[in-house]
Amino acid sequence: MTKARIAVLVSGGGTNLQALIDAQGAGTIHSGEIALVISNNPGAYALERAAKAGIPTQTVSKKQLGGDQEAFESRIKELLSAHRIDLIVLAGFMSILSENFTKDYPERILNVHPSLIPSFCGVGYYGLRVHEEALAYGVKVTGATVHFVNEIPDGGKIILQKAVEIMEGDTPEILQRRVMEQAEWKILPAAVELVSKQLIG
Ligand code: GAR
Repeated sequence: MTKARIAVLVSGGGTNLQALIDAQGAGTIHSGEIALVISNNPGAYALERAAKAGIPTQTVSKKQLGGDQEAFESRIKELLSAHRIDLIVLAGFMSILSENFTKDYPERILNVHPSLIPSFCGVGYYGLRVHEEALAYGVKVTGATVHFVNEIPDGGKIILQKAVEIMEGDTPEILQRRVMEQAEWKILPAAVELVSKQLIG
């Protein structure tokens, strides 16, 4: 294998996907290539970012599959295998994958989470909600984590973390943006290169 073939799973705006596309363009990611983007949301702007970058896209909607988790995951598995994917990156993917899925890809699925795990993580902690909780608690430092995905939500081995300061007057939106800029968009590409390099090693 010369480059690890990467699938990025998304649900929304896709700024983390964009950071990966840009890192690939800049050569920061050179041991892997984004070969597929899968969205569980047909309206995700991330799909447009992928298309603009010439990356094949697929949508797998659980709703359109009658809400059936097994059918949802087996469709994703089919796509991953058809595209010969080596590494799966969850970049703002707002659906929890079951053990039935994760057990097939040990240390082959990465996730970016917008807090310093083990704070503000697990079931129910996603997107803006994470930053609302950090502000409500009154922590002075938060950040982002990239970790391997296993059967425990946000519970897999940590790969990279970066701390971000909370400032007086922060709103969840302001804090989310700072965590993305200072942490997520840096450590996600770095972790993807690190793991891709190990895979092709
Ligand atoms: C990011 O902040 C990501 O860390 C978070 O959702 C946002 C997606 O933004 N993910 C989670 O909360 C997962 N538990 P993006 O679509 O612009 O990358």
